[in-house]
Amino acid sequence: RQPVDSPLYPLLDAAGEYYRQALKSHPTRKAAVEYLKGRGLSGVIARDFGLGFAPPGWDNLMKHLGGDALQQKAMIDAGLLIENADNGKRYDRFRDRVMFPIRDSRGRVIAFGGRVLGDDKPKYLNSPETPVFHKGQELYGLYEARKANRDLDEIMVVEGYMDVIALAQQGLRNAVATLGTATSEEHLKRLFRIVPHVLFCFDGDMAGRKAAWRALEATLPNLQDGRRARFLFLPDGEDPDSLVRAEGTDAFRARINQQAQPLADYFFQQLSEEADPRSLEGKAHLATLAAPLIEKIPGANLRTLMRQRLSELTGLNGQALQEMSQSSPRQE
Ligand code: GTP
Ligand code: MN
Ligand code: MN
Ligand code: MN
Ligand code: MN
Repeated sequence: RQPVDSPLYPLLDAAGEYYRQALKSHPTRKAAVEYLKGRGLSGVIARDFGLGFAPPGWDNLMKHLGGDALQQKAMIDAGLLIENADNGKRYDRFRDRVMFPIRDSRGRVIAFGGRVLGDDKPKYLNSPETPVFHKGQELYGLYEARKANRDLDEIMVVEGYMDVIALAQQGLRNAVATLGTATSEEHLKRLFRIVPHVLFCFDGDMAGRKAAWRALEATLPNLQDGRRARFLFLPDGEDPDSLVRAEGTDAFRARINQQAQPLADYFFQQLSEEADPRSLEGKAHLATLAAPLIEKIPGANLRTLMRQRLSELTGLNGQALQEMSQSSPRQE
């Protein structure tokens, strides 16, 4: 999936070192330090996550790292520099942003995310796809979560960099985030190789609820018996960062224990909202929606149990449901 060796690794590492150093000593660092403090982060967490600062200006990193043309070419390949297609001018991609290094499972820096200090747009800027960075496969914070926990049992999937870091700051060091992409089957495959339990905790807004259903769909083909996925839905307008800071670690943990919904419950609840099983038409629709999804589950026990539940809800017997799924072929 990733090259074992690439000249981009040392370059990205040096960039991360530059950004970290800039957060400590660059003359313009003050606003960035204040920003991170204002979001409740300590120096320890900043260090653990390798947070940095890309100072304002067009060529700070280029001057620091980019000697010759060859080096600058490599920096473009690494996503650190941008070359203007019209006039060939080169400049730093990340300027005046708080920097989040994205690490692979071995801890090597493979990309960056950068956040503006205020309300400018775009709020977050990510590295582009490069030979060492494939957005759709990586999970921010996975390296850090594994490093902080010898025996991880459950990983929490959240939406944003700041959610991962704020949770870690509050002692919940098991969160990872997708990088602005939807949760994919590939993500889940990776997670379930590491832990048997996954907890999705997205923002309490429309986008978050949409993301949750897509995460469910990506989870189904990975649900062997013994694995479990749960969903925690947050109050409207909250995200894990805002909520854990507002209510504290214990309350947040209690919320997880009391409110996290097992996948199967969320599945039937959501589909029953779309197809109301109180009418025959609703039952029929529900069966069409649910049966093909249930067939994606590789865990034979859970698959059977969910078929039974669908039978109870619709009154259709197992035979009928099975025939329905055969007409909509099972995806591997
Ligand atoms: P904060 O304002 O720092 O708390 O950000 P957030 O993580 O709460 O942001 P939000 O819920 O709006 O978005 C969730 C995630 O989507 C972010 O962490 C980013 O990964 C991504 N995202 C948000 N805004 C942008 C953007 O402007 N550009 C890109 N590329 N990604 C974004
Ligand atoms: Mn959101
Ligand atoms: Mn278990
Ligand atoms: Mn958010
Ligand atoms: Mn947020």
